[in-house]
Amino acid sequence: MCGIIGYFGKEEALPILVNGLEALEYRGYDSAGVAVFLEGEVKVKKSVGKVEILKKSLKNNFCSGSHLGIGHTRWATHGIPNKSNAHPHSDCQGRIFVVHNGIIENYKELKSYLQKQGHNFKSETDTEVVPHLIENFLNSGKDFDIALFDTLRMIKGAYALVIIDKENPKILYAARLSSPLVIGVGKNENFLASDPSALIGKTKNVVYLNDGEIAKISQNDINIINLKKKKTPYEIVHLGWDLEQAQKGDFPHFMLKEIFEGPEVVRAAFRGRIKSKENLVKLGGLEKVADQLKEVKRLLILACGTSYYAGLVGEYLFEEISRLPTETHFASEFRYRDEPFDKNTAVIAISQSGETADTLAAIQKAKKHGLMTLGIVNTVGSTVARETDAGVYNHAGPEIGVASTKAFLSQLTVLIMMAVYLSKNKNSSKKLLEELEKIPKKIEIILAQSAKLEKLAEKYKNYKNFLFLGRRYNYPVALEGALKLKEISYIHAEGYGAGEMKHGPIAMITENFPTMAIIPQNSVSEKMISNLEEIKARKGPIFAITTEENKEISSLTKDIFYIPKTIEPLEPLLTIVPLQLFAYYIGTKKGFDVDKPRNLAKSVTVE
Ligand code: M6R
Repeated sequence: MCGIIGYFGKEEALPILVNGLEALEYRGYDSAGVAVFLEGEVKVKKSVGKVEILKKSLKNNFCSGSHLGIGHTRWATHGIPNKSNAHPHSDCQGRIFVVHNGIIENYKELKSYLQKQGHNFKSETDTEVVPHLIENFLNSGKDFDIALFDTLRMIKGAYALVIIDKENPKILYAARLSSPLVIGVGKNENFLASDPSALIGKTKNVVYLNDGEIAKISQNDINIINLKKKKTPYEIVHLGWDLEQAQKGDFPHFMLKEIFEGPEVVRAAFRGRIKSKENLVKLGGLEKVADQLKEVKRLLILACGTSYYAGLVGEYLFEEISRLPTETHFASEFRYRDEPFDKNTAVIAISQSGETADTLAAIQKAKKHGLMTLGIVNTVGSTVARETDAGVYNHAGPEIGVASTKAFLSQLTVLIMMAVYLSKNKNSSKKLLEELEKIPKKIEIILAQSAKLEKLAEKYKNYKNFLFLGRRYNYPVALEGALKLKEISYIHAEGYGAGEMKHGPIAMITENFPTMAIIPQNSVSEKMISNLEEIKARKGPIFAITTEENKEISSLTKDIFYIPKTIEPLEPLLTIVPLQLFAYYIGTKKGFDVDKPRNLAKSVTVE
């Protein structure tokens, strides 16, 4: 969840660290800090709040001329956001400087052991045990490499660590266990980052560290060893991401830019993969398991947050199109269930970042039970992509806004293609694929009417609660629409299947409790109309997302946003877009930083 950056190379380190931290800020923004080596000294600067504040404090050529440094932006887990809890953390002597992402679960016992040995702690963090443990081993006469190995062996939990040893400034150390860390490979320079997006514009060549690996990096060299002290080979992965994709351009926020990327994101997901005239879906990433997939009788979709809601749409898609019984579970619940498994079950893990701790743990559990695991992942080379047996990349480009928007559209597109791929009756898919090709244009029509949504957001922005209702394919859209509003505007919102409304939530309906109704004309719109009648009878305001074909809705409300018509399985690709924009406009009208909503982090790498 925290952001880590490290640099060793020919360029001035500090601007690279600060740029990297700005790019990583979406991972955590409680406090930030840097440590840079110059002329035998390591200088540290920390600040509370966003990276902007750290940047302002780095005046008067702070450490100019340094070529080696580390930086961190924090999402607090242990200890409040203040300067002493901000990273980098150091040992008693001020020799070792550490930035950390993850949680050291046994830090309390390690801390009390080290305190008994005379170590003086300055923070409430779990991280601070790392430099002190290394120091403790150094004090007992071990050299740095051995001290680091012994320290890593004592730590329980998850870590991505980057470490400077002031006594050996020719090496930058890094270690990983269950928390992502990537090496950026440059010319006469190397980088370390918790997320490859921090390296965009610097290098497109990266090496993903595996669990239990330690990297020793210099300006021109990368050495990777495992905890058994054996040198391990590494593979350089080429990222296709461009600098433009990681910049806001003319948009005021990444969130808005990413919503407006919707049409291209859907195109990029199906480009080269579908041939509607031949009813053909070609998913290269699944070829190696194509024969095994023919034997699959049941699917389990595992994911968190927005990816979970995409998975819920997937449940309807696989059942209707592939005729495969499918269940979608929160990865965080699945990992602790004790259900019986059938070997003909395949797991599909969905993750934008590919680094979500719960999703990774769910994959491990599935593998332990011998299930085939597939990934739907946006970040190339990420841990989910590497840990699954096969998978399909989203090709959505980097998603910087903390609230996931474009990733949802690309996940839905991939799920639709996978449902056709797994279908035994391909002939029925022609219409679906033809319609899918028309979706980008239809999203453009929605985006062109964003001013209407902005007006409606103005009207609705002061309500304190919202109910989001949908049925069938639009039930998960109701859940995702409510999540977006909560994340961005801090307004309480609940998503519900419209049929369930009368079993409880209707009790809350008053003239101060509006309902967002997702009701395109389809097989269940008649049923939805009856549900909305019940709301109107209780004076609840209604805002409807619908299609021109739905004539009945105008008798229930004047607040209507029309979207183009498509076939039912594809509706979520259209219905979610106005809800994303609605959340965006309400959030910005309330003056919130919609790209970095409070308490959230983009990539949830702790449990
Ligand atoms: O990277 P992932 O798709 O695995 O992330 C899952 C969730 O943490 C993520 O979707 C989260 O719910 C977002 N804040 C939603 O906007």
